[in-house]
Amino acid sequence: LENGLARTPPMGWMSWAAFMCEIDCEKRPHECISERLYVTMADQMVKDGFRDAGYTSVHIDDCWMEKQRDSKEKLVADRARFPSGIRKLAQMMHDRNLKLGIYEDYGSATCAGYPGSKGYVETDAKTFEEWDTDYLKFDGCNVDVTEVIDGFKSMKRALSKRTKKMVYSCEWPLYLRVNNHTDWINYTDIAENCNMWRNFDDVYPSWSSILAIIDFYVENQDELAKAQGPGAWNDPDMILVGNESLTYEMAKSQMSIWCIWSAPLLISVDLRILKAEYREILLNRKAIAIDQDPMGKFGKMVQKDGDVRVFLKTIHPIDPLTNETSYAIAVFNKNPKQEKYHQFTLASLGIKSSLGKLKVEEIWSKKVLGIVEIDATIQVKTNPAGTLLFTANIVKNLENYIS
Ligand code: GLA
Repeated sequence: LENGLARTPPMGWMSWAAFMCEIDCEKRPHECISERLYVTMADQMVKDGFRDAGYTSVHIDDCWMEKQRDSKEKLVADRARFPSGIRKLAQMMHDRNLKLGIYEDYGSATCAGYPGSKGYVETDAKTFEEWDTDYLKFDGCNVDVTEVIDGFKSMKRALSKRTKKMVYSCEWPLYLRVNNHTDWINYTDIAENCNMWRNFDDVYPSWSSILAIIDFYVENQDELAKAQGPGAWNDPDMILVGNESLTYEMAKSQMSIWCIWSAPLLISVDLRILKAEYREILLNRKAIAIDQDPMGKFGKMVQKDGDVRVFLKTIHPIDPLTNETSYAIAVFNKNPKQEKYHQFTLASLGIKSSLGKLKVEEIWSKKVLGIVEIDATIQVKTNPAGTLLFTANIVKNLENYIS
C-alpha cells in the first residue's frame, strides 16, 4: 500500500501469542490485557534496548474492548483494564518515542467475540484517528467469505480518508485460504490495499508450527516474492523467540528465516522474564539489518538436501560500478533431533560475482570465513533445528571507486 509507511518491515512487540485473551486482572494482574501491560512492556523495550534496535511499536491485540459500543456507536476500551483510554495510552507510547498499534476485525465480532467493525468501518477509522494510533491490525473472523475482499478494501478506503496515516495490516489472504478460496487470492490487489498481510495460520510456540509456516512460504515463494517490497509485506506472524517451548536453536532459526524473508518482526514474549541469550538473538544488529534491508526482498529456498534447506536473499551493499549485490544465506536444518552436515559453493546457490569472490561471515557465531571464492566448497554443520545465517558481501576494490 503506497501510503508512505512501512518502507521497511514493521518491528515491535505484540501481545497476542504471549498473553492471548487473558482478561482476569484480579487473578493475573501482571499478565492481563490492560494498559498497565502495554506500558510495562514499553518501558522494558526502552530499558533493554529494543526500541533503539528498531522495535519501535507496541501492538494491542484482541480483547481490549468493552463488549458494547457507546451511545454514539463508538468503540470503547474496557473501562476497568484501560482506565486512561486508548488516546492516553497512545500518548504514553509517543512520549516514549514508540508507536501504538490497535486491533479490530471486519466481521460482526472479533475472533474473541468483541464488537467487530461490520457496519462501522468509517466510524472506527475516525475513532482510531482521534485516538492517534499508528497502526491497525485488521482481522477477518466472523466474516462471510464472499465479503472478505470488499471488507478489507472498505477499511483501506476509510483509513485513506483520514489525515493521520496508519500502517494497515490485513489478514485478507488467510481468510480466503481457510475458507477454501485460494482461487480468489490476488496478491497484486492485496499489496495495493494493505501494508502487510497474513497468509497462513497463527503461529504458536512449537516447532511444528514454525515448520508449517516455513513449508507454506517455501511452497508459495515465487508468488509471495513478487508481491513484496517497500510498503507491502508478507506477514508470517509473530516472532516467538524467548518462548521456552522453542529451543535456543529453534529460536535462532525462526529469527533467521524471518529475516531472510524481510518479514515484520513483531515479538510476542514476556520481555520481563526474557533470558539474555534470547534477547541477544532479537537484538542482533546484523540479523536485523538483513531483515530491514532497503530492497526488502523476499529470500527464497534455493537448495534442498535431505532435512537441510538453503535460503538466499540479495541485500546491500551493492557495488555502484557493477550493480552486483551482496547476499544473505541461511542454512536451515528442519530436523529437531539430529545435527546435519552440508556442503555447498556460493556459485551452486546461484551467486554470481565478477570478482569471483565474496566476504563471508556467519552472523550468530560472528565467525568470519574470510574472502571466499565462489567455487570453493563451504562445509557446515547445523545443530538440530538450527540455522546458520551468513552474509556474503561484495568485496570492494576501493581503488576502482576513486577513478
Ligand atoms: C486471529 C489472528 C491472531 C489474533 C487472534 C485474536 O486468530 O490471526 O493473530 O489476532 O485472532 O483473537
